[in-house]
Amino acid sequence: MIVLAQLSDLHLDGGDRAAERAERVMGHLNALPLDAILVTGDIADHGEPAEYTRAREILTSRFPVLVCPGNHDVRGPYREVLLGEPPETGPVNRVHKIAGVVVAMCDSTVPGEDHGLLDKDTLGWLDTVLTAEPETPAFVCFHHPPVPLHIPYVDEIRQFGEDRLADVVARHPQVVAILCGHAHTAAATTFAGRPLLVAPGVVSTLTLPGQKGVVDYAAPPGVAFHALAEDRRLTTHYRTFERPGTDGRGDSVL
Ligand SMILES: [Fe+2]
Ligand SMILES: [Fe+2]
Repeated sequence: MIVLAQLSDLHLDGGDRAAERAERVMGHLNALPLDAILVTGDIADHGEPAEYTRAREILTSRFPVLVCPGNHDVRGPYREVLLGEPPETGPVNRVHKIAGVVVAMCDSTVPGEDHGLLDKDTLGWLDTVLTAEPETPAFVCFHHPPVPLHIPYVDEIRQFGEDRLADVVARHPQVVAILCGHAHTAAATTFAGRPLLVAPGVVSTLTLPGQKGVVDYAAPPGVAFHALAEDRRLTTHYRTFERPGTDGRGDSVL
């Protein structure tokens, strides 16, 4: 069995609150038997170099840590500080082979915008990397959910142009699931006939329609654990991590 932990939306902003949450989550993950840790975007809150310096420290692990950017990330500093690469501005797409599975970390961001789109180059790249390993189970990962989740605030800034992605996924039956973040809510649905699993937010949790406010800052940070069995059946567990000593009450609201 292969276990991938997925966290998302750290929004590291130079302050202690977001950093403590991300450190708390990583502390728990580093003590577990995992194969890799996936971070599906909004790693920094403003895309500042100092935020990526902190992210690089916090995301250090004994496991491989695979990342993709979100709408709060900025490609130049993300590449230069977090990845240690030249600060080019094209999409940041990376493919990894972890414990016998392909993990495609795609860039769904549109610079300067909050909504998402997989551009032509990214879709072509994804098709190529999936074509190269037709027998290997694959996870397709990015920041923006490519379907409405029935939460108006996030549905307005979801990933659009999703029919093109559906066409790519349809050509590759080895795609086990599609993993995303951005919505700050643990959710499960389908896309192109595959599971579409949304990681909860580390920094905050989106409220449901009818609940007070837009964002719940008191809810504890959450993580998705994706367990892939030898028969390629996927099971996902969601967990939250309270701050020690809070007795389930979560953080204070800021
Ligand atoms: Fe976010
Ligand atoms: Fe986002």
